Amino acid sequence: MNWYDRWILPRLIDLSMRNREARRYRERMIPQAAGRVLEIGFGSGLNLPFYGAHVEHLFALEPSRDLRRIAGRRVGGAPFAIELLDRSAEDIPLERASVDTVVTTWTLCTIPHAARALAEVKRVLTPAGTLLFVEHGLAPDARVQRWQHRLNPLWNRIGGGCNLNRKIDEIIAGSGFRLAELHMEYVRGLKPLSFTYSGRAQLAIDPPATRLDPGVESRV
Ligand SMILES: C[S@@+](CC[C@H](N)C(=O)[O-])C[C@H]1O[C@@H](n2cnc3c(N)ncnc32)[C@H](O)[C@@H]1O
Repeated sequence: MNWYDRWILPRLIDLSMRNREARRYRERMIPQAAGRVLEIGFGSGLNLPFYGAHVEHLFALEPSRDLRRIAGRRVGGAPFAIELLDRSAEDIPLERASVDTVVTTWTLCTIPHAARALAEVKRVLTPAGTLLFVEHGLAPDARVQRWQHRLNPLWNRIGGGCNLNRKIDEIIAGSGFRLAELHMEYVRGLKPLSFTYSGRAQLAIDPPATRLDPGVESRV
């Protein structure tokens, strides 16, 4: 690991992820988590203040030692038990059907094999469990998409493996989830960096869904 990834990037992630737009999504999505909760890509623990009274236990999975160290300062005083897991989301150290909610915020963009991670999420979720997600990704406008593809190699290097051009709804639906709720919008900031997908997904009963539910709310 080079000095940038070791010393600069974790602090940069902690700082940049504290912005007002991110907070708005955290306020809306994180209180929906309930029961035994797994957060993948826990980062520096910025979702913690938004978990509500329905959480019984939080498994906080984060492969970066430096981000776990920053998060460690935030976990004291939570009204539920928190277990920090030093693992990758492609290899979740939990039993099949053992968690009620999985949370991912700005993480599917970075996990090297996002579909493999979602297969693991599917394995550990209970049949009635929920995946809550907030992710940036591929924009709908061709001009913005061109910039996203153009900038991606550079962004990937400075952003610790982050990708600008993943089509998050298709990745989730293609991994065997039914999108029960999906919002899509540009948030404040540069368009190639700011197109945001958020919502809720549940295990698809049939073979992997490739289309959205007819009733899904979808805004662009
Ligand atoms: C932009 S940060 C977001 C952090 C946090 N979720 C938040 O909302 O502030 C991306 C996170 O994905 C994590 N990550 C990268 N590869 C991962 C993997 N294979 N499995 C789980 N998390 C991963 C990074 O370590 C980092 O914490």
